[in-house]
Amino acid sequence: MADARYYADYLALDRLLDAQHPVSSLDDGPAHDEMLFIIVHQAFELWFKQILWELEAVNATMGADTVPARDLSRAVARLRRVVAIQPLLRGQLEVLETMTPLDFLDFRDALVPASGFQSAQFRVIENRLGVEPTTRLRIKGAPYHARLTDDDRARVLQAEREPSLLEHVDRWLARTPFLRFGDFDFWTAYRGAVNDMLDRERTIIERNPNLDDEARAEELASHDETIDGFAALFDRDRYAQLHARGLRRLSYDAFLAALLITLYRDEPIFHLPFQLLVALVDIDEGFTAWRYRHALLVQRMIGDKVGTGGTSGHVYLQKAAERHRAFGDLFSLPTFCIPRSALPELPEPVRRQLGFRWEHGSGG
Ligand code: HEM
Repeated sequence: MADARYYADYLALDRLLDAQHPVSSLDDGPAHDEMLFIIVHQAFELWFKQILWELEAVNATMGADTVPARDLSRAVARLRRVVAIQPLLRGQLEVLETMTPLDFLDFRDALVPASGFQSAQFRVIENRLGVEPTTRLRIKGAPYHARLTDDDRARVLQAEREPSLLEHVDRWLARTPFLRFGDFDFWTAYRGAVNDMLDRERTIIERNPNLDDEARAEELASHDETIDGFAALFDRDRYAQLHARGLRRLSYDAFLAALLITLYRDEPIFHLPFQLLVALVDIDEGFTAWRYRHALLVQRMIGDKVGTGGTSGHVYLQKAAERHRAFGDLFSLPTFCIPRSALPELPEPVRRQLGFRWEHGSGG
């Protein structure tokens, strides 16, 4: 009978430590390194479980009609926990790399057609964060879930249907009161500041003595693209076109709110929302870094061979790293940042509105 007050029972160690079953058989038994391979994967799956535990809680918080500051603070703390787990995932790949390609070949064939590609928890994490299903890479025409069991596929597709963290954050941003400034037309003031900055930048390119004509023309063309990007920011219809082409995922209002929070992060009321945005950027970056790191491991382990899961191997993995991201829009925000010194000064009533208001009067 399990006793929750006994260490091994509480942790179900009998089951946990009896769950490593190498399948290879060399002349003298299983390949030595297969144990490491199994344990590293199992450790990953445990951390995936913890990440999902945090993400589900954060999704529940952010999906509410209103998100009080206390709840937001807890959501940020949980996202920071996910951020803290991510380096451990990358670190585990380093442990796995103590196995050489030849050591791996001792048992690789016995694994076909199994692959990390079939990690249902990894797919659920991607979906709960908000990886866009329609932009996912297909493998020889088949969707990413084709090689899952029916149960795993059902779980993964259910996670695809539920609102993701990206969608919750989108709605939360879009309904913030920050976009309304009474009589103060913030966006006109900001646009003026942006135009001044862009003019200054163009003059710098035009006068740069280190550029020849060709290089100058290239830089000016790229500057024109930046101007174009700003134009879409000030025009809801042009933004909608970018959105329709999948080049933006946040709604227009949400994108502007995220930009405002980023620009005025020093204002007390924006501290917590800014931390949330930073945590989302960290998580997106952490998974992307893991994906690239994993692609490199795969290349050094199997070279240009195809994967046991049937993809092109490291080439597929690098493409997936570029494409399967949820919060790319937040990485675009710095394009629209201008120096603090050039930011429009907020009128006093607006500043007061953005200051902390004591919920429970504390004297004075
Ligand atoms: C010797 C070590 C490893 C090798 C050679 C390897 C190889 C591969 C390959 C080739 C793929 C592409 C799918 C395929 O064709 O099979 C893949 C996908 C994947 N692997 Fe690994 N892998 C290794 C270790 C790991 C570890 C430790 C994990 C941790 C769970 C992992 C998780 C994944 C995931 C989640 C995918 C799907 C990625 C995506 O589709 O974006 N792999 N792996």
